Amino acid sequence: MAELVVAGTTAVWIGRGADATTVLGDVAAERIAYVVQPGIPTQIAGRLAGGRSEALLIPVPDGEAAKSFGVVEAVCERLAAAGFDRTDLLVAVGGGAVTDLGGFVAGVFLRGIRVHYVPTTLLGAVDAAIGGKTGIDLGAKNLVGLFRHPQRVVIDLDTIAGLPRQLLRAGMAEVLKAGLVGDAALVDLLEERALDAPLEETVTRSIAVKAALVAADFHDHSGRTFLNYGHTVGHALEMATGLPHGEAVAIGMVAAGRAGALRCGFPAEQRQRAVLARLGLPAQAPPVDADLVRQLLARDKKRRAGQLRMVLLADIAAPQVVAVDDATVDAALTAVGIGGSPK
Ligand SMILES: NC(=O)c1ccc[n+]([C@@H]2O[C@H](COP(=O)([O-])OP(=O)(O)OC[C@H]3O[C@@H](n4cnc5c(N)ncnc54)[C@H](O)[C@@H]3O)[C@@H](O)[C@H]2O)c1
Repeated sequence: MAELVVAGTTAVWIGRGADATTVLGDVAAERIAYVVQPGIPTQIAGRLAGGRSEALLIPVPDGEAAKSFGVVEAVCERLAAAGFDRTDLLVAVGGGAVTDLGGFVAGVFLRGIRVHYVPTTLLGAVDAAIGGKTGIDLGAKNLVGLFRHPQRVVIDLDTIAGLPRQLLRAGMAEVLKAGLVGDAALVDLLEERALDAPLEETVTRSIAVKAALVAADFHDHSGRTFLNYGHTVGHALEMATGLPHGEAVAIGMVAAGRAGALRCGFPAEQRQRAVLARLGLPAQAPPVDADLVRQLLARDKKRRAGQLRMVLLADIAAPQVVAVDDATVDAALTAVGIGGSPK
């Protein structure tokens, strides 16, 4: 069992056999509401969200459908009807969609109530629950949100270990990303053990990478951007093809690996590909309209003065933000089979 403190405010509990008491910690709240994702196996939901018999249980739609103003309104109405005040507690139990929603609701209801996150996916545990970004979708993903840390995050590794393979792999793409931008030993571990690497180590180490970058740049003006490694092409692909986030980021890292080799002398392009293959993650994009991907890249939030900027690696754990020209973008896309033959 490990306890970390992120950004001086969030207590992160990482261990096995978490139960309702672990989830609540030593909080004293008269009223507790659990916002629970329906896709979580019932047994797990019961163990983690079964704290008090009088607690309010608020089911929300599964996946991304939870991240809407309609759901925010419905959850706020339930809290108001139950007489919640600022001393009460909201607990979000589920994947990243539910912690993003729960964090947002907790940030706006009564201008802020306490919130605990219980991420039940690997991506939720190492990424969405850490760092204080909350958000809901409005035409575009995460268009509306708040920067606000939860008070407590409880990561039950037994739950993560029991995830379906596809959800485990999706999270491993973010674990590998954390290693590539900030922890060479984590990359070594995934190279040796792939999906068998001990979660105690992979989860704790990737959270440590994210926590360090967030502590230095909470509002995402500089160093936090490094966490976008693989996400420039990844997001464009996710939007163009509907590919799951983890797979899109894996392909995005291959593209960024090529660009990094060309622009910064990244020496581990092939090694990165090999680790992705060991994790069962794709390196090639599915058939997609290359012009559509380019149009989506043109909207990337890291763009400045008309030029695309990507997070590239000069080496493992040596990220930098680099303005890339069209030839580099073409080479990066070609490397993943977009608009040319794969390299
Ligand atoms: N706030 C941030 O910094 C941040 C970072 C990364 C991602 N995100 C957000 O996170 C979301 C993606 O998170 P996600 O991948 O966890 O997706 P998700 O929350 O949509 O969950 C994916 C699926 O897994 C199911 N599930 C959850 N726990 C399970 C379990 N233990 N066993 C079996 N199935 C389970 C869910 O019901 C759902 O169908 C996106 O909305 C993304 O924008 C936020």
